[in-house]
Amino acid sequence: MSDTSHDRLLIIDFGSQVTQLIARRLRELNVYCEIHPYQNVTDAFLAEFAPKAVIFSGGPASVFDEGAPQPPASVFDMGVPILGICYGQQVMMHMLGGKVEQGHGTAEFGRAYVTPSDDRIDLLNGWFLEAKEQVWMSHGDHVSQIAPGFEVYGTSPNAPFAITADVARNFFAVQFHPEVHHTPNGKTLYENFVKLAGFTGDWTMGAYREEAIRKIREQVGDAKVICGLSGGVDSSVAAVLIHEAIGDQLTCVFVDHGLLRQNEADEVVTMFRDHYNMPLIHADESDLFLGELEGQSDPETKRKIIGKLFIDVFQKHANEVGGAKFLAQGTLYPDVIESVSFSGGPSVTIKSHHNVGGLPEKMGLKLVEPLRELFKDEVRALGRELGLPDSFIGRHPFPGPGLAIRCPGDITREKLDILRKADAVYIDQIRKHGLYDDIWQAFVAILPVRTVGVMGDFRTYDYACALRAVTSVDGMTADYYPFSHEFLGETATRIINEVKGINRVTYDITSKPPGTIEWE
Ligand code: XMP
Repeated sequence: MSDTSHDRLLIIDFGSQVTQLIARRLRELNVYCEIHPYQNVTDAFLAEFAPKAVIFSGGPASVFDEGAPQPPASVFDMGVPILGICYGQQVMMHMLGGKVEQGHGTAEFGRAYVTPSDDRIDLLNGWFLEAKEQVWMSHGDHVSQIAPGFEVYGTSPNAPFAITADVARNFFAVQFHPEVHHTPNGKTLYENFVKLAGFTGDWTMGAYREEAIRKIREQVGDAKVICGLSGGVDSSVAAVLIHEAIGDQLTCVFVDHGLLRQNEADEVVTMFRDHYNMPLIHADESDLFLGELEGQSDPETKRKIIGKLFIDVFQKHANEVGGAKFLAQGTLYPDVIESVSFSGGPSVTIKSHHNVGGLPEKMGLKLVEPLRELFKDEVRALGRELGLPDSFIGRHPFPGPGLAIRCPGDITREKLDILRKADAVYIDQIRKHGLYDDIWQAFVAILPVRTVGVMGDFRTYDYACALRAVTSVDGMTADYYPFSHEFLGETATRIINEVKGINRVTYDITSKPPGTIEWE
């Protein structure tokens, strides 16, 4: 467990697909919360965590299943407010003496409308301004009898106990999901819940920054720290924060594998070495990487070569720092939650992702991960708080293997040069049209085919390229961006006119799934 100086809310995860959204809503209210899978929440855990309030998430189980997930009974004796959502409501009623019935035709999925009972409670302040509230339901089983002490405060056609509460004990239980977008006024419920639990909204970025700096100093002492800087938002924010905490005890290693975008190396080095005055090793290893990649066209082989070389090179340069005891990483909260996910279990490898995993053990380093408690947009807010320019913070994600995975087939310097130029024109177009911030990620892939064209009175035989632009929330699923025909036409013309070596431009309209965002 990490943070102990804030009022803390505990979310017990029963495996809902949308548990992370509960945390998002709470963080938006400046409330510090952590998600923990129900298996880990024991009596001892509860005592140590000492939450000021608890939320039970939804989940796919039925209280009738053998070994159905439950919180420890002691949670009800802690004297703190509890909110149960969907399965969280059912398990609460089940444990406190109410009844749950199996679906049998009364399942309710999707939009529903809840109407109020005559009595109002503080949880519902700002609700039922209209005669009914839109909510999002997704349940098979339902509560058929509420537990002693509970009253009903809202009903829907298929959920007579849509909103219930035992006001004396501050226990609340709702059948719907207030955390999702389709419960438009859901945030108000969370706001009321944390208010009545006594949260003061002390989780601000300014406070976080102070505290993170204190913790980094405490953890690191006077030891040296190395940090792999990629130029991406996460590692950049981590580096600036750590530098603020320990100054020149931090050295960043920026490995240039020759697969970066136009001007990228210059921008990163200028920003960190010149602007922030950080000790920075700029390791230009492009000959090594491009040499080893020569003649390789299989995507997984390419990824593995890059991953291995990256670790070797990083280790070589990190050794130059001499005596470093810590490795800093920009690990985020979603990575932490995923690793203990309810439904967990090994999933199929689609792509071997590139990271510096394995290094800490190999080099005998301990990890410094100051962003472990943050979501991506919170990292961006922290970056702003630390004075990183917006143009840097808002950058689209860029994968560790770089342009290698945007160059299907053989990688050559010639193709990389063409790709860099085309990509720069495309991104320039997107910026000029004011679309950059609406798009999650955009790039060009150079295709391993040449096509025939005619320019002026001459025949051309050049490469084709594909433009990619997607909207996404987390990169796990994505949809193609609906550019106008005018935009696409203008961009194709510019690329063909300005980039020697390309004579055909296509637009990739595949969503993920079934496609992936990158081409390899
Ligand atoms: P895919 O192509 O799997 O990409 O749909 C999802 C997101 O992950 C990025 N990506 C990577 N990021 N190392 C990274 O740091 C990698 O090896 C890697 N492969 C893909 C990709 O750019 C997209 O944002």
